[in-house]
Amino acid sequence: MRYVVTGSAGFIGAHLSARLLADGHDVLGIDAFTDYYDPAIKRARVERLAARSRYRHVAADLAAADMGPLLAGADAVLHLAGQPGVRLSWADGFDVYLRRNVFATQRILETVLRSSTPAKVVVASSSSVYGNAPAYPTTESSPTRPFSPYGVTKLAMEHLCWSYVENWGLDVVGLRYFTVYGPGQRPDMALHRFIRRALAGEELEVFGDGEQRRDFTYVADVVAATISAGQREVPRGSVLNVSGGAQATVNELLDLVGLHTGRTPRVVHRPAQAGDVRETGGSTALAGELLGWAPQTSLSDGVAAQVQDLVVGISLGRQRRAADVAATAGAAGG
Ligand code: NAD
Ligand code: UGA
Repeated sequence: MRYVVTGSAGFIGAHLSARLLADGHDVLGIDAFTDYYDPAIKRARVERLAARSRYRHVAADLAAADMGPLLAGADAVLHLAGQPGVRLSWADGFDVYLRRNVFATQRILETVLRSSTPAKVVVASSSSVYGNAPAYPTTESSPTRPFSPYGVTKLAMEHLCWSYVENWGLDVVGLRYFTVYGPGQRPDMALHRFIRRALAGEELEVFGDGEQRRDFTYVADVVAATISAGQREVPRGSVLNVSGGAQATVNELLDLVGLHTGRTPRVVHRPAQAGDVRETGGSTALAGELLGWAPQTSLSDGVAAQVQDLVVGISLGRQRRAADVAATAGAAGG
């Protein structure tokens, strides 16, 4: 199949693109390399993808580019590009969230609508649409009441999608991802920060009392659900939780970081952050029924894989820096 993956230079989008390529599909990746975190990390991911002949990258801003030629001929558009992160979506940051999560999605939907052969669209939504849910595990029919401006933009994005489904019959499916982790996780996220600091012997910052709970979801499981949503016949306008089934508090996560790094985390507590919900926990019954999907990775195995990935990354970084120093010294001497 021919897939367009938006946000292919991002954490989840790069894993998704790599899986699709390994399965023999063609992938056109679109990503603007935004500077929410170091764009060099994103460019390195794309370099690895571009080593495969079936991958083509277009560095374009979905909120501005001429989308028609980019989406032409696609069987499915897996739309993961967006502005993530709950805690920075307040104040002046909000316009970026609106532009990247709402306006960019509207442009994709309009482009697909105007195509002679409209592609299926899968959009990456978020557990953040629920806010502090009234019950756990939260089902998709639970009320949505976001607790952060980020969650508001993801819910607005969903509603935009449903209006295109209901007015024009577009084939759109929404996936509500729950706190995704694993190798290559975004550097602003809790587990990445915890592992990196534990390995460096630095203090780890815990927001609030650390008793907030998350339904952590391993990235390979998220990829499997996303591919299934792109390939299966799913009722148009469905929205499905993609959650890990491995709920843990931040304090329990820290225990796993200690176990797998072999370091006792040195914790400092910081004030609880605005927008941070107390608990997430998603029912996966509907995703099981419609996608034939269930999460496969235990939290302990997933944390171990992320620790291993960061250890290798840090060691490769050191080797590269040492080689650069040696090359510079050689050039200066010679
Ligand atoms: P990420 O920031 O690593 O990836 C998003 C990518 O989108 C980035 O590479 C960025 O450069 C690109 N992008 C943003 N706006 C763009 C635009 N206008 N045009 C082109 N490219 C643009 O984030 P991620 O963690 O991989 O998340 C992927 C998606 O999943 C996001 O939509 C996010 O909101 C959603 N999500 C993530 C999580 C999670 O825990 N990581 C949970 C729920 C939902
Ligand atoms: C994550 C993603 O960042 C969002 O993009 C996504 O939409 C959301 O999941 C989701 O599920 O929808 P979050 O759960 O806040 O958001 O992810 P983490 O950054 O991993 O934070 C988990 C918990 O650890 C939060 O309570 C946070 O306050 C806490 N934390 C984070 C710390 O205590 N210390 C840190 O250094 C970082």
